[in-house]
Amino acid sequence: HWSAEEKQLITGLWGKVNVAECGAEALARLLIVYPWTQRFFSSFGNLSSPTAIIGNPKVRAHGRKVLTSFGEAVKNLDNIKATFSKLSELHCEKLHVDPENFRLLGDILIIVLASHFARDFTPACQFAWQKLVGVVAHALARKYH
Ligand code: HEM
Repeated sequence: HWSAEEKQLITGLWGKVNVAECGAEALARLLIVYPWTQRFFSSFGNLSSPTAIIGNPKVRAHGRKVLTSFGEAVKNLDNIKATFSKLSELHCEKLHVDPENFRLLGDILIIVLASHFARDFTPACQFAWQKLVGVVAHALARKYH
């Protein structure tokens, strides 16, 4: 369900993404902007202020892990459900993450990409990425359905 142009817009931008940096920023923003998401990360230490969250090495490392994993969706655009089947099991059945949070992280990722790649992040590019974060959120929530 991807047009050739959409695939190009997704993989073209992804090739420029610094996964460690953008992943860390996206997770930090999630924890700051939607503070209730902090409850899943009580083992991560100091999350008491935006500065603490941004500087927290566990947040940085986990953000990188999450965005690296997101990259699997980019590499497997036609097979996202199967790609995230195990992760869906983990997040739904073990971690009990409310699927609404997958949508929130997707929207945060869009904001991070827009701020890093202002010129490249055209409306058509946003359209393709918005679709991708939606498909990923749906795939991760699958074990709830
Ligand atoms: C763990 C990916 C969204 C909470 C993980 C892991 C990956 C991952 C790859 C590590 C799995 C392992 O160690 O085997 C993703 C992706 C997401 C996403 C691709 C969306 C694009 C979320 C959201 C939350 C969340 C929105 C909660 C608000 C967690 C927690 C862990 C975890 C609590 C375990 C952390 C730990 O203690 O090590 N996720 N995740 N994830 N994820 Fe996610």
